[in-house]
Amino acid sequence: MMSPVTGITFTDFKGIRKGRVSLERFTLLIGRNNSGKSSVLEALFLLPLPYRETPYGNALSAIRSLHDTLGSRSFSFLLRDYISEGCRVEYDVDNGVRAAFSCVPADGVIDAEMSWFKGADRAASMRLRLGEGLELLHPKVHEISEIRKKLKSLGVPETLLIHPSLIQAGWDYIKAQWGRVTQRGLDRKVARELSRLVGGNYVGMTLEPLLREKISLNLQDEEGRRIRLGDLGDGVQILATVMLLVRLTGPDLLLWDDLEAHLNPQLLSFTLRWLDELAAGGVQVVTSTHSLEVLRYASQLLGDREWFGVRLLTLRDGELRPISLTRDKLDELLEAGVDVRVAEALL
Ligand SMILES: Nc1ncnc2c1ncn2[C@@H]1O[C@H](COP(=O)(O)OP(=O)(O)OP(=O)(O)O)[C@@H](O)[C@H]1O
Ligand SMILES: [Mg+2]
Repeated sequence: MMSPVTGITFTDFKGIRKGRVSLERFTLLIGRNNSGKSSVLEALFLLPLPYRETPYGNALSAIRSLHDTLGSRSFSFLLRDYISEGCRVEYDVDNGVRAAFSCVPADGVIDAEMSWFKGADRAASMRLRLGEGLELLHPKVHEISEIRKKLKSLGVPETLLIHPSLIQAGWDYIKAQWGRVTQRGLDRKVARELSRLVGGNYVGMTLEPLLREKISLNLQDEEGRRIRLGDLGDGVQILATVMLLVRLTGPDLLLWDDLEAHLNPQLLSFTLRWLDELAAGGVQVVTSTHSLEVLRYASQLLGDREWFGVRLLTLRDGELRPISLTRDKLDELLEAGVDVRVAEALL
């Protein structure tokens, strides 16, 4: 079984000058806007290797796509204030294995490296040059799967990031992989899970054009009747996409930024239950939210699960300071009607 990531430490990475966040099996990140939640999740998505195939292309380029502006598509977002002398992120895995991602600007490009250590030994490393595009310096592309296997044997987790701006790419990936989805029976599995939510008795999914339109993903019931997922709502469509992506890629560490984007309250509580089940089954989960609905549910989880944690992030003068909320504290704040997401001054 994979070992969870227990902590992540930052030096001059994006907007974070310094700071450390400890992680549980299931961690909820909260905090006001610009408190560093997305930065933590993006840094975790660099694991196990920043250059590796994901449903959205290679991991680091997928993260960069979240930071593309009209005028710029560079990797300088990695550096604090875009000009710092370098960035460093350190990761601790539960079994004593550690990793470090670093980047150093040189002559208009950025040299980046991810190294894995077991004790004092360097177990694996990857070097990249980031300029207009991304150049893999070491290892060779065909050697990456070997390194991934080696890291897997060391208990290093594979990660998947769910982000509102990556859902479209995720959906395109599922369409392209539909053969594998049905072969492995993932469509039937997800259809049953979704039935609990939308209250039907769906036994499978189809990917086909209904009424000669664009291809749609449809739920199918026992009589063969189909309904387009989109007609059950945007949220259901997004949730189905996420569920299929997770079943298809089988991440050990699932990262979900802005959990409540597109999900109504009923879907949110269903999604939280689903994440809770994933975590109970051994998948590590880190998710961020602005939703009070989620925080009420979190209070329940804090009482029931010793491996669930809430971190209220604050970022001041570049210093990231997470506050761990206990159930009592969270309930106290919720009962007092305090907006927990901005409650750091009271804690
Ligand atoms: N390269 C960078 N240099 C300096 N500051 C940066 C850099 N990249 C991001 N920031 C800043 O870091 C802060 C944290 O951003 P982040 O996106 O992680 O916050 P967040 O908690 O996810 O916010 P939101 O709730 O709006 O999603 C923001 O103020 C952002 O502008
Ligand atoms: Mg964010």
